[in-house]
Amino acid sequence: MCGIVGYVGRSEAAPILLDGLRRLEYRGYDSAGVAIVDGDHIETRKCAGRIAELGKLMAAKPPTGTYGISHTRWATHGKPTDQNAHPHFDASGKLALVHNGVIENYQALKDQLILDGDRNFSSETDTEVLAHLIGKLYDASASEAPAASNGNAAATLPNKKGRLVDAVRAALRQVIGTYGIALVHSDIPDFIVGARRGSPLVLGVGKDENFLASDVSAIVAHTRDAVYLNDFDVVAVERDKFEISSVAGEAGNYQLSKVEFTDADIKKGDYPHYMLKEIFEQPGSVRDAMRGRLSPEECTAKLGGLNMTPAQLRDVGRIVLTGCGTALHAGMIGEYLIEQLAQIPTEVEYASEFRHRNTPMTRDTLVFAISQSGETADTLGALRESRRKGYRTLGICNNVASTIARESDGGVYMHAGPEIGVAATKSFTSQVAILTTIGLLLGRMRHLSTSEGTRIIDALEALPAQIEEVLKLSDQIKAIAKKYASVPGMLFFGRQFNFPVALEAALKLKEITYLFAEGHPSAELKHGIIALVRPDLPSVFIAPDDAVFSKNVNNIEQVRARKGPVIAITSGKGAKHLAKIADDIVTIPNVPDYVSPILTVIPLQLLAYHLAVELGRDVDKPRNLAKSVTVE
Ligand code: G6P
Repeated sequence: MCGIVGYVGRSEAAPILLDGLRRLEYRGYDSAGVAIVDGDHIETRKCAGRIAELGKLMAAKPPTGTYGISHTRWATHGKPTDQNAHPHFDASGKLALVHNGVIENYQALKDQLILDGDRNFSSETDTEVLAHLIGKLYDASASEAPAASNGNAAATLPNKKGRLVDAVRAALRQVIGTYGIALVHSDIPDFIVGARRGSPLVLGVGKDENFLASDVSAIVAHTRDAVYLNDFDVVAVERDKFEISSVAGEAGNYQLSKVEFTDADIKKGDYPHYMLKEIFEQPGSVRDAMRGRLSPEECTAKLGGLNMTPAQLRDVGRIVLTGCGTALHAGMIGEYLIEQLAQIPTEVEYASEFRHRNTPMTRDTLVFAISQSGETADTLGALRESRRKGYRTLGICNNVASTIARESDGGVYMHAGPEIGVAATKSFTSQVAILTTIGLLLGRMRHLSTSEGTRIIDALEALPAQIEEVLKLSDQIKAIAKKYASVPGMLFFGRQFNFPVALEAALKLKEITYLFAEGHPSAELKHGIIALVRPDLPSVFIAPDDAVFSKNVNNIEQVRARKGPVIAITSGKGAKHLAKIADDIVTIPNVPDYVSPILTVIPLQLLAYHLAVELGRDVDKPRNLAKSVTVE
């Protein structure tokens, strides 16, 4: 949801900024731009379209300079045009700004600027208004007392720098909304200012060079030393130093962290797409989600990051799982898991709904916010609302030091490694694996016996090898995708643990093939959906050899009777049975029902992937989507 990169150092900024943007392209790809300060003027290149287009512009006329800012956009205010592309300038043309977020009161701010005589706006964006406001405050401060006399944190910066930081603060105090920003001013050499509220911003600390970025993946090729900025932080960045203060003007605290992955982890390697790479990483990512968290001796799970004593865990009377998109689907499986393994009433809430409604909560309710990025605005909003009301709120996140991870009372990291493909894959299976360990832990504190605990641990530990088996079916699934390449859409059905998998499979198909897809509990077929069944619309049944297999078979027969093609994902004895009635079957290892979603989802990720490739879609950057949705 927009990505920003800033650089100040001794190298040419252009290649560093462009490379950083390419790594952030998953955050948005409607338009892109850079502003690099060359002596006393700012060189700008920006255009609608992908970063590749910006690359062409920059190659045709390379901007030179050793500090600058850049942006890749996911449009919110204003269409994705050249004019609306960031960076945006103030009225003087000397200040350039990039922004990730939404300035909600931009119209009121713009009206005031216009009233004050500033009519020089060239875009429809909220960002340009902020650039004008900062520029106006900076220019006005030239005639006021020097910054060194005002006693705030900017006092340590020499005059122009201090004045610019003061102007940023003063402007941001007028802003309602969210922002991660970076800006340069052509009068102030080797100086970048950044600030955040609601949108992520990280400072990369290098040797004689420093960076700003929405996500460390943009800068990890240059440094693994990072400071994850907090909301309301303002950072003044120079080549060899930085200073963090708050929007209110107080000196800021910060912690230097080591980025846990390397540049090699975010390369595509030999895979044609990140999505395929990430699907194939699942044996390792699921193993990493469980690493050190299973205790075969005590037949339970160990989750120290929850920051809860055994007594507190035993007192949990109700659980709410919240998230968006794929994370929500993982939460829906979590509901089945926790209720079956621990018998604790569990509910799943769309984060976007939960945060705005008055859900009845009991004092013993524990809330989990599930989010790969740890930055999704609605999930973060749900977490904050839940904490505001006094409920213990834990995170299940992949991005270490993300906002959700930092603001929660504890949680469990996925350790899945960077997920770059916009369609989530490995994060889903990691989330489900973690929710299983939570169910195991809570269950073992209640009624689960040691032998039941051991059975669950054995099932979890067997998963990585079983995922390898499923991945071997990729070519078979590719052939199925080819066979159905001209269908208008697909229906997905599953029961119990595999009903949310049907939803997730439909989401994957929609996201990357743009075909219509719906997921439903198999039995709901009869209640309306059956009207959609027709010879050119396949139904995909997730029907492993489990307690509800025969019920799924009934539903498959109902589709067959109406000449609907059927693709079945099955296991064990199901294969023989379904070979007679389904058009295509994919047979995966037979496992206990509570771990089956981790296996059943993989053929469906592959089906969506191969179909999207067959249709010539841009798999890693599907239209209109962004991986990390930091706006509401
Ligand atoms: C976006 C992505 C989805 C993702 C969802 C939640 O919509 O396109 O793939 O599932 O956000 O993301 P999160 O980072 O919170 O898991």
